[in-house]
Amino acid sequence: MAEAAQSISTEKVDFDKIRKDFPVLQQQVKGHPLVYFDNAASSQIPSQVADRIDNYHRNEHSNVHRGIHTLSQKATDSYEATRKKVRDFINAGDKDEIIFTTGTTDSINLVANSFCECYVEQGDEILISEIEHHANIVPWQMAAEKHDAKLRVIPVNDDGEIIWDEYLDLLNENTAILAIGHVSNALGTVHPVKKMIEAAHQRHIPVLIDGAQAVPHSAVDVQDLDADFYAFSAHKMCGPTGFGILYGKKKYLDEMPPYRGGGDMIDKVSFEETTYNITPHKFEAGTPPIAAGIGLGAAIDYLSDIGMKNIALYEQELLEYATDELLNIDGLRIIGTAKDKASVLSFVFDDIHATDIGTILDQQGIAIRTGHHCAQPTMRRFDIPATARASISFYNNKKDIDRLVAGIKEAKTFFVD
Ligand code: ALA
Repeated sequence: MAEAAQSISTEKVDFDKIRKDFPVLQQQVKGHPLVYFDNAASSQIPSQVADRIDNYHRNEHSNVHRGIHTLSQKATDSYEATRKKVRDFINAGDKDEIIFTTGTTDSINLVANSFCECYVEQGDEILISEIEHHANIVPWQMAAEKHDAKLRVIPVNDDGEIIWDEYLDLLNENTAILAIGHVSNALGTVHPVKKMIEAAHQRHIPVLIDGAQAVPHSAVDVQDLDADFYAFSAHKMCGPTGFGILYGKKKYLDEMPPYRGGGDMIDKVSFEETTYNITPHKFEAGTPPIAAGIGLGAAIDYLSDIGMKNIALYEQELLEYATDELLNIDGLRIIGTAKDKASVLSFVFDDIHATDIGTILDQQGIAIRTGHHCAQPTMRRFDIPATARASISFYNNKKDIDRLVAGIKEAKTFFVD
């Protein structure tokens, strides 16, 4: 991302050595060394994280927050250590503002249910953008229906950037919340979220940021952004699946009702009445995915050792190289040409379907994603059914990009020439 890249210190990181931390990348697929460009769907896991999870399962497993015995206390300490690591990683003010969920989707559903329960009334408006992931559309649609509110949509220009004046026009006294992606998963657009939050706050409108595609690629500081809620997933940042984060300002979390009922989220239970645990535990019912939480802690340690600013700078270099190389391919059109972009290259040909490109690339051991990327309204905005999407991570390199370009040229020969 441009902001992070500009402020980089030129610390040297050996990204070739780092690539060796990922055993999955050492394999052959269809007789070719694997090139993995589906990082926006799920990133790969380094040995350090896999080993930490394995060690937990082999030697430390027990339930958390419940046991007086040593093993349970050890598991609780390791699991709760992740809360502090997340706080530091995104610079939250207080560890109690970090809620553990099962992923970004779960985090957004929590806010759409619980926040809307106490802050959204009939006739209110919920504002999102035209290029959101379905996870940042459907929960709000459901909430709007439940509370008789309206879903309003900020349009984007042909580059995939928010149209600023239209955004300002949409903010009004009925806007109950703005929910916006930090980085678009389908186009790679980096929305100017800091500026957007500032404009929303001037009108006393709280803001949720879907940071699933931003946290793995840049240094995020929720206090600097002044985000009211910030959601992201472990499995897109070198951690395991099934674990996610909701950051929320305490002033909202303390007011919001619990989202799910069960063990751990209560204070006292009787058949007449139940009182709830304090934030964040009142939002964390039931036995959590403990190993995944500890795995996220290890992933944060791993990423912090490399440095998020170093990652942002290196990925920006790869993105620029890949963009130039792809634009040299006859007939290829990049969808998503925002000035500020991160890690995603979506492209189409007029005469080859994205699925066919993906299939030919897979024959050469190159993994990309094809389709609507859980963003059907984004496809509709650009009047296309699907794109082929290569999404970059710091363990990719220029040779991977050269293989991608050669593979696309081969697909073109197969289907067109
Ligand atoms: N949201 C994920 C993607 O963009 C699954 O592929």
